[in-house]
Amino acid sequence: MVTINVCVGSACHLKGSYKIIEKFEKLIKDYNVEDKVELKGSFCLGHCVEAVSTEIYGEIFSINEDNIEMFFKEKVLGGRK
Ligand code: FES
Repeated sequence: MVTINVCVGSACHLKGSYKIIEKFEKLIKDYNVEDKVELKGSFCLGHCVEAVSTEIYGEIFSINEDNIEMFFKEKVLGGRK
């Protein structure tokens, strides 16, 4: 099981955390990995400038609607490097 933490702190919230969470939910369904991927909201991850901050395997990434699918395929489905 891998956990994706999406920041819902104020800076990230303003930049669309909830849209990103919805997109992740859809990707998890589309790729049929509900039993492998867990999605959580998190408090400020300390990278507000990079909103929407998303943490996986201890690394923080800046996720938007353009890079979310690539991120999902590479980092989530691709697993830990
Ligand atoms: S509010 Fe998201 S990293 Fe600070």
